[in-house]
Amino acid sequence: MEKLLIKGGRKLTGKVEISGSKNAALPAITASLLVSGKSRLHRVPDLADVRTMGRLLERFGAGFHHKDGVLEVDTSGVKSFEAPYELVKTMRASVLALGPLVARWGQARVSLPGGCAIGARPIDIHITGLEKMGAKIALKDGYVVARAKRLKAARICFDIPTVTGTENLMMAASLARGATVLENAAREPEVVCLAELLNSMGAKVSGAGGSVVEIEGVDELKPPDYSIIPDRIESGTFMTAAAITGGDVVLKGVNVEHLDAVMLKLTESGVVFKAQAGGIRVIGPERLGANDFKTMPYPGFPTDMQAQCMALMSIAGGTSIIHETIFENRFMHVAELKRMGADISVQAGVATVRGVKALRGAEVMATDLRASASLVLAGLAAKGTTIVDRLYHLDRGYERMDEKLKALGASVERVR
Ligand code: EPZ
Repeated sequence: MEKLLIKGGRKLTGKVEISGSKNAALPAITASLLVSGKSRLHRVPDLADVRTMGRLLERFGAGFHHKDGVLEVDTSGVKSFEAPYELVKTMRASVLALGPLVARWGQARVSLPGGCAIGARPIDIHITGLEKMGAKIALKDGYVVARAKRLKAARICFDIPTVTGTENLMMAASLARGATVLENAAREPEVVCLAELLNSMGAKVSGAGGSVVEIEGVDELKPPDYSIIPDRIESGTFMTAAAITGGDVVLKGVNVEHLDAVMLKLTESGVVFKAQAGGIRVIGPERLGANDFKTMPYPGFPTDMQAQCMALMSIAGGTSIIHETIFENRFMHVAELKRMGADISVQAGVATVRGVKALRGAEVMATDLRASASLVLAGLAAKGTTIVDRLYHLDRGYERMDEKLKALGASVERVR
């Protein structure tokens, strides 16, 4: 088991290159299942989740070659349509294969994802949408078994603006007969990236980024050659790292338009942003101001930045209220932050964070991807040494984070 050993108290300074977005890359990879041929994607980050998706595509019979950020997927050999539990349980995003397999191959057997640390995270909305498009779906032995001759257009209104639900059904509808309308669709930049990728393949998707997305089905798509957007959550995480250490960091290759809500909150807490060619400079204040957060679907404050900002607020001057509305159990980092001296109490999805002068280094355990980022941030600011265990959580969604932090002057060491 790998751990990260962090000696806190250093201000981060210098430049950091933001990687391609994990949550845009994962659906982009399964979109290759909509065609038979060689898809090419650029700026694909080297992450555990991308490698897992690669194993899944190879299970289907596809070729998967990822080098220096360029990913080539050859789907001409696809002959199996089963996403097995042992892969899906390690990465829920595997369900993004469901829509493309049913749309292009007329069949899929995808394991139900099962539970997750941060919440139940069902996929009922994905399934209902596919049924509305004419798929015959049975839930058998923990698997979703789907069949369809050819999907047909439908008007689908989501109870919740589900991100991967919107992506799954957008992909399915791109090869359906007629024009599908998704209402109350997710508006995340990753959804827009997928829509643009699909359109570059010959699909006819309009309205992505808004709450109503229309997809005019076509008979055939062609393999893409497309570049993934930068990772807005990695960007927000490094902005928070500069803020929590009182540092001065330039983020290169970031798309600040995806970070309005995050940058507004950080600005209100005293962080200074200065636009720079091809990036943004982030200057952390001597003393952070407390602030309130409520996670919401995009363009609201992102749930994927909640844990990182809780670490930040734990040393701010004053009391902050953090309301998590997307997932029912996304406060696993609270207990670990308290072991570092944070003063946090949780009541029914709302955390009250009373800022303390300083955190103290401790041995802590990561429980999920963004909780691990939160603990790393806390370690960077804490007095003394922090050891973050179960580093595989961090490696799922951050490309070489320890090396990037080291290059910014942090004292971090990956140890076994
Ligand atoms: C995506 O997950 C992201 N993952 C998550 O990022 C992110 O936290 C989440 O969106 C919310 O922004 C990827 O894009 C691969 P949802 P997703 O469906 O699509 C409920 C990270 O850290 N729901 O938008 O699974 C669900 O339980 C990860 O990178 C249903 O009830 O999230 C949740 O409460 C973590 N039924 C809410 O909707 C459904 O059929 C939002 O979930 C689908 C979702």
